[in-house]
Amino acid sequence: MDKPRLGFIVGTRPEAIKVAPVVLEFRKFDSVETLLISSGQHREMLDQSLAVFGLKPDIDLGIMTAGQTLTEVTSRALEGLTKTFKERGIARVFAQGDTTTTFCAALAAFYLQIPFDHIEAGLRTDSISTPFPEEFNRRAAGLVASLHYPPTKWAAENLLKEGKDPKTIHVTGNTGIDAVNLIVKTSSQDWFPEHPGRVILLTTHRRENLGEPMSRIATAAREVLEKTPDALLVVPMHRNPQVREVLMKILGDHERVRLIEPPDYEAFVPLMKRAALILTDSGGVQEEAPALGRPVLVLRDTTERPEGVEAGAAKLVGTDQKKITGEALNLLNDKEAYHRMQQVVSPYGDGMASQRVRYWSLKNLGIDSPGVTPWG
Ligand code: UD1
Ligand code: UDP
Repeated sequence: MDKPRLGFIVGTRPEAIKVAPVVLEFRKFDSVETLLISSGQHREMLDQSLAVFGLKPDIDLGIMTAGQTLTEVTSRALEGLTKTFKERGIARVFAQGDTTTTFCAALAAFYLQIPFDHIEAGLRTDSISTPFPEEFNRRAAGLVASLHYPPTKWAAENLLKEGKDPKTIHVTGNTGIDAVNLIVKTSSQDWFPEHPGRVILLTTHRRENLGEPMSRIATAAREVLEKTPDALLVVPMHRNPQVREVLMKILGDHERVRLIEPPDYEAFVPLMKRAALILTDSGGVQEEAPALGRPVLVLRDTTERPEGVEAGAAKLVGTDQKKITGEALNLLNDKEAYHRMQQVVSPYGDGMASQRVRYWSLKNLGIDSPGVTPWG
């Protein structure tokens, strides 16, 4: 009998990082065939993230264009993925999180009536438009999923509240923690050895922060730097031109600011470790910072990741300039408050999420494989 052919779909940087450990895990088992399929929603940022794990897409739809709209990404990804699933005889589709690629993978699988397994399922805010359009994307993916892999108990409860069948829900931990654990063991990049002082790391890219909120974030970061004479502010710039324009305008001329190209994951993990404080609106960075013992201020009004905030490793500070500046300076100057945040154990996973995904999906296909202790 032919082996079932499983399609793993990626489109953007965080999907590459969080799906890579899952693909590597499935590739240890020769009872299935795996195809890594990229929509190419991102280009350089996706390729560099996969390369760190020694992966290259088997199929690449290459849909990215500069300044792409959501409609353009959606129509191109939906059409390309549908065609690929049909032509390549995909028996089961896996996608992660809440990007437009993920939504299209779920919809394409649904139209073709192929089982869809959703990794990092169940994250929710109260509003369909925050974050935009990710909240819609993940709810829609959840509507059609055969199996749901929430990273935490809280995410599983969200799915149960929506009436999903408990037998289809398996708490796995976040596969992003598998990724960070894999990289932290091998990566040794030494960031700013010539600078004895602290590093403040800033990343921002969210669609809802483009424009005014991003200007406030950058201005606040500059103010924090002015009041912290020993610090360097390091800002890996997302490739979105709308992000870069604001960052360069507000931060470009400061002698203690380093605006850098986005380091690949192997270099970015040591950069997070080098940082005394992380300011971010990124979902993935919010999860990784506590795993690395780094306090994180979340530059968003709501988060679908309340676990880090509840555990005391993260603070939700929004995009108000004064609030960001106040909270950051407080942490940089108050050793005890800093230490309390640093000591929290990662609420997002134990590094074995990919094994749990592999176990439950293979079981659903009628294939036995080694089990793993439950998480959460
Ligand atoms: C996308 C996801 C978001 C995720 C983010 C991760 C959607 C709707 N948004 O947002 O959930 O948090 O990725 O980073 O799916 N660009 C490049 N090279 C790259 C990547 C991007 O030049 O490798 C530029 C292009 O001009 C592109 C723009 O960035 O048009 C925006 O990319 P897009 O994927 O549409 O949105 P993101 O903000 O990256
Ligand atoms: N990341 C990276 N290089 C960078 C910035 C981020 O490798 O310059 C990694 C980060 O560690 C995390 C992922 O990219 O694993 C997060 O991607 P992003 O912030 O773009 O998306 P989000 O998680 O917000 O969807």
